[in-house]
Amino acid sequence: MSELSRRKLLMSGGALGAFGALGLATPAWSRDVSPWTWSPTGSIAGSGSGADPRTIFDAEADPVSARLLDSGAVPEVNRLLWNWTRNDQPLPAGLPGYLVDFIEHARQLPAWADTAKLERAAQFNKSRGLYLNLLNGVGGGMLSTAIPKEAWSVYYSKGGADMEDRVAKTSLLGFSVGALNAYRPDGDCVVNAVKTRLVHAAVRHLLPQSPHWQWGPIISQEDILVTWHTLPTYAMRKLREWDVRISAADAQAYLHVWQVTAHLLGVRDEYIPATWAAANAQSDQVLPPNMGPTREGVELTDILLGQLAEQTSPGSVSRPLVNALARYLVGDQVSDWDGIKREPIWGPLIARLWPLLVKFREGLIPLPLVPEAAWVIDEAARQYILFFLTKGQETKIEIPTINRPE
Ligand code: HEM
Repeated sequence: MSELSRRKLLMSGGALGAFGALGLATPAWSRDVSPWTWSPTGSIAGSGSGADPRTIFDAEADPVSARLLDSGAVPEVNRLLWNWTRNDQPLPAGLPGYLVDFIEHARQLPAWADTAKLERAAQFNKSRGLYLNLLNGVGGGMLSTAIPKEAWSVYYSKGGADMEDRVAKTSLLGFSVGALNAYRPDGDCVVNAVKTRLVHAAVRHLLPQSPHWQWGPIISQEDILVTWHTLPTYAMRKLREWDVRISAADAQAYLHVWQVTAHLLGVRDEYIPATWAAANAQSDQVLPPNMGPTREGVELTDILLGQLAEQTSPGSVSRPLVNALARYLVGDQVSDWDGIKREPIWGPLIARLWPLLVKFREGLIPLPLVPEAAWVIDEAARQYILFFLTKGQETKIEIPTINRPE
């Protein structure tokens, strides 16, 4: 998008109105020049160079995917890796040696991974599944389309032309992280994270070749952190805002499973927050300058919400309900950036009824105090999750060979 139309978008539609729970002050890339100040002492590594993560990409995965693409090996590699699904599964024969070397190294859990915490996180993900899937699926999706660099890259990469498949593939990793066996030998989180790392490296190689691409190098360490905060950090903040009871051990465990996932996605330990306090501080630093409206983000949001409304059980969830729930999850600022319509009936209803549903689930109020209409919203939330879950089962993550077809 040209600078002029970007400006127009910035000025339009009340997009600069309310500033919500994410602490977003000003949009965005226009002032992405502030120095990097988040201290590595708050990281898992506990120390580090303090280098600006906007200038760091993935020195291990990038040459591997570039070589696979340049040599035309990707289709055969995708075919061979199709049935590589379990964390403990040996790699199939026939892969290029340099790819095997990369994967064998990349699939190792970090030395600081704590099995007990990962098991606890799995139980937490199960017990809070409805909230977490809704927040990570719908909420995270709506936030990611309000991250210009992510919206542009998704739009102009291969998956941008087929959002259904793209949603399906992305939700695969989300469900892997939330699965009971995520990091057990029979789980698939390691596999999906390592495949995603190769996909991201391929995107770094392919996107600059697109005639539409004008935004420089992409998917830096900071970019990944930005998206990461729209997942666990955002979800934890929302759970707290909703007064969901979470023990300190559960909160730690939930952070841990996402720390391990960040590591497997190629984020350096010196950038992975060690505590929730450090995570919140980093989120507050990286999100505001990296969020805002784009034409592509608005279009992607519309496709996503349209899919949710159409493809849940026929007639069960209307587009106004979808819009209202999405707006409720991400707030007015992000919704305006994403072009999500305000819904005069469902909007206020959800704001009143969702807290009652949460209170009921938390055992704080008895059933008779939950109005009948609230269960329509509850059912919609379940339908969304089912939608993501079903789509995810239909596909697997593959390395792309092209950008968005013209
Ligand atoms: C692909 C997850 C960060 C852009 C994927 C895939 C997953 C995923 C699971 C594979 C699905 C597919 O092939 O469509 C994540 C997670 C992230 C993250 C968990 C951070 C925690 C980012 C960032 C960007 C980005 C920061 C860009 C700024 C893309 C693009 C694709 C992709 C363009 C490929 C789309 C295609 O070719 O169809 N990501 N991602 N991702 N991701 Fe990410």
